[in-house]
Amino acid sequence: MRRPRRNRKSEVVRSLVQEHQVTVNDLIYPLFLVEGKNVRSEVASMPRVFRFSPDLLLNEIEVCMKLGIKSFALFPNINESLKDKYAKESYNEKGLYLETIRSVKTRFPEACILTDVAMDPYSSDGHDGIVEDGKILNDETLQVLARMAVAQARAGADIVGPSDMMDGRVGYIREALDDEGFIDVSIMSYTAKYASAFYGPFRDALNSAPKSGDKKTYQMDPSNQSEALIEADLDYSEGADFLMVKPALAYLDVIKLLYDNFEIPIAAYNVSGEYSMIKAASEKGWIDGEKAMIESLTSIKRAGAKIILTYFAKEFAILDK
Ligand code: PBG
Repeated sequence: MRRPRRNRKSEVVRSLVQEHQVTVNDLIYPLFLVEGKNVRSEVASMPRVFRFSPDLLLNEIEVCMKLGIKSFALFPNINESLKDKYAKESYNEKGLYLETIRSVKTRFPEACILTDVAMDPYSSDGHDGIVEDGKILNDETLQVLARMAVAQARAGADIVGPSDMMDGRVGYIREALDDEGFIDVSIMSYTAKYASAFYGPFRDALNSAPKSGDKKTYQMDPSNQSEALIEADLDYSEGADFLMVKPALAYLDVIKLLYDNFEIPIAAYNVSGEYSMIKAASEKGWIDGEKAMIESLTSIKRAGAKIILTYFAKEFAILDK
């Protein structure tokens, strides 16, 4: 009789046959940045996730590097008074975001910094593009995105991450980076980014929720799978170095689809809401949070993501030590 249970009979046999394992090398840790000194404010909807002022962000990165986390995605919480219709603060060299990237890269040149290329943290409308009469203007937005990406590259970004879902942005940004000589700066494209309810806690963290309307004219409909291939084909041909699927857990099929169809590395964003659900249930004692964390990260890797952006990175690294 064929008995599959023989391959599960002991810890050591189970570890021999284990097909997928998450390691700290696969993880990118998203960190929230806020103006000020000595600030460490917890995001109400994301237990144990903080907004750090630049000084404390540097300390946090140092701690994480010692734990083996080497890649970070930085997101700025911008003062409401600095926001405008055109997100001009996004390319202000003296602004919070670019100054901080510069100091992180000066202090930790070996760290990998992934930036966010999108207007929403800086936009008075809270959208990822320029809003005119309730419409998001695609091609006008590209110019802002390219300017932002070049400024981030100049500040030391290793990878720029367009998260805006405008059409044509990967090619437009690639050309702008190359024109300025940043041929080695990579693009991790948010390729299949869905209009998802799971971004709620992130928008709390950055205070970046849309002031009116929703993001459905640019982010994808959760019902669609083949459309992800159209987005991926475009991003690949426009020069993306990585393709990202976001969120991760409700979209494992999309991760697998891109993994099966493209040779470049697939990344998945285990988003804020996915983090908060596990945290909330585990705080209530309803699930074992650590086990649920490892199980969900493993499922993302099993689906085909080589890289996982996750708010669990630090907790995982501590457990893995
Ligand atoms: C916006 C952006 C969002 C996230 C990353 N970049 C939110 C949105 O599109 O509204 C969400 C990340 C998360 O929920 O953890 N450009």
